[in-house]
Amino acid sequence: MLKMGFLVIFLLLSLTSPGWCVDPRIYIVATYPYTERLYNTNAMVVNKDGDAFLSCAVDNRPVGMPLQWIWMWKEYTRSISTDTEATDPYKYQIDKPADNNWRLKIQNIQPSDEGLYICRVQLGDQQYANDSRTLFIVESPQIIDIYTSSDTTVKEGDPVELRCNASGRPSPIITWTRLGDGILPNGGREQRGYYLRITAAQAEHRGHYKCIAKNSAGQDVRVIRLDVKFHPRVTVVENRVYQATGYLKELVCQVRGNPVPTENQIMWSKDDSTLQGNSFLVFENTFGSNTVMMKLTIPRVQDQDFGRYTCLAENSEGADTTYIDLMRSDTPTSDRKGVIRSGAVILTFSITTLLMMLSVLLLHLC
Ligand SMILES: *[C@@H]1O[C@H](CO)[C@@H](O)[C@H](O)[C@H]1NC(C)=O
Ligand SMILES: *[C@@H]1O[C@H](CO)[C@@H](O)[C@H](O)[C@H]1NC(C)=O
Repeated sequence: MLKMGFLVIFLLLSLTSPGWCVDPRIYIVATYPYTERLYNTNAMVVNKDGDAFLSCAVDNRPVGMPLQWIWMWKEYTRSISTDTEATDPYKYQIDKPADNNWRLKIQNIQPSDEGLYICRVQLGDQQYANDSRTLFIVESPQIIDIYTSSDTTVKEGDPVELRCNASGRPSPIITWTRLGDGILPNGGREQRGYYLRITAAQAEHRGHYKCIAKNSAGQDVRVIRLDVKFHPRVTVVENRVYQATGYLKELVCQVRGNPVPTENQIMWSKDDSTLQGNSFLVFENTFGSNTVMMKLTIPRVQDQDFGRYTCLAENSEGADTTYIDLMRSDTPTSDRKGVIRSGAVILTFSITTLLMMLSVLLLHLC
């Protein structure tokens, strides 16, 4: 009874697909790089300039029917091999690791090699059994110098356009970020696109901008420095300060500018006459902040020292000025370090310090 059942099934199978047991079976057994599922196809992702391998196996090959590799892309078709001979030996190689195995090597892969690789065997007139893989060529991004800004200097108020572009496959996505405080001129920490645009450059836009070109194959990075020149801004803490006669007073103006004003570009004046002599001018450039302090020290304030002091600073971009009125007071005021000093006190202090340092030195020597 059981035997009869098997027989029936066998007969039915034979009838529905006559000759099923001798149908050729063709299949790609191995690939390098490995096959993955991409865009709904069996795909291989290959780096540009690399090589790829596809091994095709055939069971029950009809006698005398060649196995062929062909390439298809859109409406184009190209024959790669006739059984064991490659049509273009510089691009393709065929070998047979096993009797029923045809291995194709594609060398030095270029974007023009992208397409569908089919191994097929002819069954009858215009009838084929086949298997295939789609080859995608990728290339790691590389920033293109001629399409990418180098370090840039602009004047305050000027429009800025930083550009960045890279080669690569698929087309890289360009992203901008900012080093340091990280906030881009248009707000946000990240911005996409070839261009980073600033309508009117401001001092706070100075800094380093990073362009990242990224695709599935990798990334490339470029840092572009933006410098913004601006005219000096002279500021004071207070426009009116007080001191009693006989005491020391320090007048201080703060100057910001790019380029930073040099010692020859800052000036103190009192009642329309320039004050000269290095003992009156102290030049401090706090590194990187583009700021200098203009300091005018009056060791012992006398009657004729009261009045309006003007500090002026200039650079290539322009000039600025502000004033400090030194007013008489009955009681001594402290300087910015919070110490009330007269000229005599300074001298005493200096000698004491010197003696202390000497004794420390001597102690160390003993
Ligand atoms: C591959 O085989 C399928 C049927 O399995 C057929 O429709 C298709 O046209 C074949 N392709 C080529 C290029 O021979
Ligand atoms: C970016 O580069 C591609 C070529 O790699 C070019 O076709 C495109 O015009 C460039 N775009 C910009 C904005 O530089």
